[in-house]
Amino acid sequence: MAGRIPENILEEILSRINIVEVISEYIPLKKAGRNFRALCPFHHEKSPSFMVSPDRQIFHCFGCGESGNAFKFLMRYERMDFPEAVSLLARKAGIVLPESAKEDPRAVSLSTQLFKINELALGFYTGLLASAQGAAAKTYLLERGLTEETIKSFRLGWAPDKWDALIEFLRSKGVGLSLMEKAGLVLPKQNGGYYDRFRQRIIFPIFDIKSRVLGFGGRIMHSSDNQLAKYVNSPETPVYTKGRNLFGLNLAKEAIRQSDCAAVVEGYLDFIIPYQQGIQNLVASQGTALTEEQARLLKRYTRNVVMVYDADNAGQMAALRSLDIFIEESMEVKIVSLPQGFDPDTFVRQKGAQELKNMIENAEGLFDYKFRILKSRFNASTPEGKARISSEMLSTIGRFKDAVLKAEYLKILAQQLDVPEYSLREELGKLRDNRPQPADSPLVKKTETVINPTERLLIKIMMEETRLVDYIRQHLEPSDFQGEVTSRIVSFMFELIQQGKQIEANTLMNHFEDKDAMRCICESVFDGEVTQENREKVVDDCIRMIKNKRMVVTRQRLQEQMRRAEVSGDEVNLLRLRDEFCSLLKRSKE
Ligand code: CTP
Ligand code: MN
Repeated sequence: MAGRIPENILEEILSRINIVEVISEYIPLKKAGRNFRALCPFHHEKSPSFMVSPDRQIFHCFGCGESGNAFKFLMRYERMDFPEAVSLLARKAGIVLPESAKEDPRAVSLSTQLFKINELALGFYTGLLASAQGAAAKTYLLERGLTEETIKSFRLGWAPDKWDALIEFLRSKGVGLSLMEKAGLVLPKQNGGYYDRFRQRIIFPIFDIKSRVLGFGGRIMHSSDNQLAKYVNSPETPVYTKGRNLFGLNLAKEAIRQSDCAAVVEGYLDFIIPYQQGIQNLVASQGTALTEEQARLLKRYTRNVVMVYDADNAGQMAALRSLDIFIEESMEVKIVSLPQGFDPDTFVRQKGAQELKNMIENAEGLFDYKFRILKSRFNASTPEGKARISSEMLSTIGRFKDAVLKAEYLKILAQQLDVPEYSLREELGKLRDNRPQPADSPLVKKTETVINPTERLLIKIMMEETRLVDYIRQHLEPSDFQGEVTSRIVSFMFELIQQGKQIEANTLMNHFEDKDAMRCICESVFDGEVTQENREKVVDDCIRMIKNKRMVVTRQRLQEQMRRAEVSGDEVNLLRLRDEFCSLLKRSKE
């Protein structure tokens, strides 16, 4: 998997950086003995089971099993591909990658190419908005209250009324049609050829947190064009998944961190206008319910979220239900519902930013808000009404991770609805039994590859003391290891030793792509120490146990084969198998 980047360079990079510093840039690490500990960024948990080892330069989560070296962390956390993670860390380490690794077009990942094409396209669109062709669009935006400066800083653009304006432009820059299509910028015509996806629309570029262009939204200018959709958006591409990103987070993340609160609005203009007027701790959901991934993205900056809804959206049950994801992430979510006829954009323009700020500060908690909406919809004094309301409320309450919070809300709900608390508890129990198991529940864990502890111990010792690898190699074959994963790891370690190489947990990781292998290696790093003086004895014990196990398994297999040969009357085979069985027994006596 190291691809075109030479192995020794990967090792050089890993030796110069410190995984503790790399990971600290993303999540807070706490010292725990020789290691560091944190809440795992890859699954939700209440007590930290994510460990980083400065000695071995690897991380491992005991909760979800995610593990690896610094490259793997960036690939997983930043969704980079391998070459991107390598070049980022190379820069950090002050190592210049060989030109061959950079220039080989295959070494430039598809996502890097798409970011580049998107950037080119954006340059084209912004240029047009500033030109005579974009004058009407520019006027429209200014009339909607955007300043020149805002138009520049959000890098808004204009796609002209032509079928192939962008195609022509990108072609002149040497971009092929297939890449344009992969970037979602062009669409295939029915009888061959392509046409521009965005035509005669104001362009809102969508950035990731590093301000790379992921895709675009394009708005028609006149609502009289009502045979057309108001917005056309980039499709999902290798770099853009709507549910993984939040519009404006690249601009707002510092303000969100500082105010320890993120207000979530819906539309591009609902973001842009308040932001321009000084409310900067914002993100826009682009009109859809938030996903779990978006909630986690926000959680990197704050645990407090305020949803700002238009009046007509505020009471929708689906929208309310979607907020439960924040509860599952142990975040606090509040709600502002704007007066009838307003969205954040028009509200700020008419009432001023301070007024919206006040509303955000005085937002109502999810529990109270949801309860209020439900009471307005169902009759809380009839048994049926009580049942409806409680079932909706319980689905939220059931998601609180904190038992005290859960108990308190149950108590409140029982009082408010005037129903006995035990009946609510009973219903809550039913809900839990019916709910699909989350991915990190113990039920799912059982399907994981089980690693034999003896085999893992040997792997650990081999990583700690290269000198012992040769000794082990004299006594065991990789195939003596019963686990597929351990056998693969051991076989690779033997190979490295034969080539006169060192074995280190963090560089070993560059050679494995599957989670199971990385997990086995990383988990063994955090296993208890084997003291120096004990090591040889432990190794001998392990070798003996593995050999015995191998013997038992072979014996069982032979017995099974003999049984089958007997049933089918295959005398020749039976004799051969018996011979084999006898010599095995003799060997095991020795
Ligand atoms: N949206 C979309 N496609 C549509 C309609 C809406 O993708 N056909 C998304 C856009 O991201 C939009 C958001 O949903 O910004 C909110 O939609 P809406 O309130 O209708 O639009 P506004 O952005 O408020 O636009 P405007 O105020 O200019 O009407
Ligand atoms: Mn609007």
